[in-house]
Amino acid sequence: MRISVFGTGYVGAVSSGCLAGLGHSIVGVDVSAEKVAMLNRGLSPIVEAEIGELIASAAASGALRATTDVDAAVADTEMSLISVGTPSAADGSVSMAAVDSVSAAIGAAIGRKAGPHAVVMRSTVPPGTAEERVVPILQAASGRNLGDGLAYYSNPEFLREGSAVRDFHAPPYTLIGAPDGDDAPLLRALYAPIPGAVHVVPYRIAESVKYLSNAYHAVKLAFANEAGAILAEYGVDAPAAFRLFCEDRVLNISPAYLRPGFAFGGSCLPKDVRSFLALAERRAVAAPLLGHVLAGNAAIIDRAFHAIAKHGRQTVALFGLAFKPGTDDLRESPFVLLAERLIGKGYDLRIFDRSVKLATLLGSNRDYIAREIPHLERLMADNPAAALSGARVVVVGHIGAEDRAALLAGLTDQIVIDLAGIAALRAQPGITYQGFCW
Ligand SMILES: NC(=O)c1ccc[n+]([C@@H]2O[C@H](COP(=O)([O-])OP(=O)(O)OC[C@H]3O[C@@H](n4cnc5c(N)ncnc54)[C@H](O)[C@@H]3O)[C@@H](O)[C@H]2O)c1
Repeated sequence: MRISVFGTGYVGAVSSGCLAGLGHSIVGVDVSAEKVAMLNRGLSPIVEAEIGELIASAAASGALRATTDVDAAVADTEMSLISVGTPSAADGSVSMAAVDSVSAAIGAAIGRKAGPHAVVMRSTVPPGTAEERVVPILQAASGRNLGDGLAYYSNPEFLREGSAVRDFHAPPYTLIGAPDGDDAPLLRALYAPIPGAVHVVPYRIAESVKYLSNAYHAVKLAFANEAGAILAEYGVDAPAAFRLFCEDRVLNISPAYLRPGFAFGGSCLPKDVRSFLALAERRAVAAPLLGHVLAGNAAIIDRAFHAIAKHGRQTVALFGLAFKPGTDDLRESPFVLLAERLIGKGYDLRIFDRSVKLATLLGSNRDYIAREIPHLERLMADNPAAALSGARVVVVGHIGAEDRAALLAGLTDQIVIDLAGIAALRAQPGITYQGFCW
């Protein structure tokens, strides 16, 4: 394939060298005449294992050349990869200046060539960039519509500096954001020699996954460093503790707890975060990440409250009171905190949770709920229909499989706020459905 690579920095140089190594014909394009000259002399513009040899041999064989001439590069190739920088702006947002200018230049060049052309975004860009920014720029500059001699894909790069060539050849998967109905055959063919699954998804998902990945990697690092510092103050060999921590592939290094939705609670997580923080404070170890965890969780409860409150002070039915389904443990349940807030603000509230039988609650669980919601028995409904009776707003925290049919049967035209992500609720006709993060 004939491919132009716009931006020959870390990502662009690695893509150029590796794609040339796979047998493609590459034209590197950069605004830096110095980088272009280096590439044309077979020299890598970056320091990175293996890339010097790849670029030297690609330049020597003629598989790689570089230019500052956008028109010539677009005219000579079928596809343009964009790997220009997206640095932080002064206010912390991402600067899209290079993306905007390179998109306009490529678009204008496409307008001046006869054949079809595909543009592929490899730079890290915020969700919405394809639909709200780059596709409109490309369409306006080229005078073509998407699908009509113009294709655009989002294809985030996952390489890490230091092991970039290895990462290029062994990515976690290949992620392609594409418009509806386009299975990205050109990119599938390009990546055919690369192992791993190929996921063709909507643009916004592809763009988001890159952001999620980097934010999560940063959170993991900050957590390990912060927790390690606390443990070290108590004479713990933190790396040894972390090695065992990572050996738990069921709860720790796994998809567990990575489903976005409502707040966490229960008798362990909030208590043990507080306790870990108290250990940090006692030895004066700064722990700002852990210090914000419970505030972040409270903000999720706030968000649910505001989602309800924006509909006015209506009668509310709440499904789910214990901190998760199938238990009667009410201690620090986020649903108890939400209910408490609604009651405090004067909402008429009915609650259904099959597992919570007030008469049988014992010990600290009973003490907790007696303290938080003293007259809870008056609010509890025996079945879904009783909870729904007269309610305009229905909040579904969780509901067991055995009660779902009754809940759905009682829904007619209510406002339903789904904190659990239940597909059948979303599909329910007549109601005003409000998802929480879906
Ligand atoms: N560096 C990494 O490890 C890595 C990994 C994955 C993704 N990314 C993302 O890839 C993108 C590029 O990162 P990088 O580290 O390679 O950046 P970089 O700064 O090393 O390279 C960007 C290049 O783009 C060139 N450029 C700027 N405007 C241009 C234009 N209009 N036309 C042609 N070239 C132009 C610059 O001169 C520079 O050579 C960023 O969005 C980054 O977040 C980086």
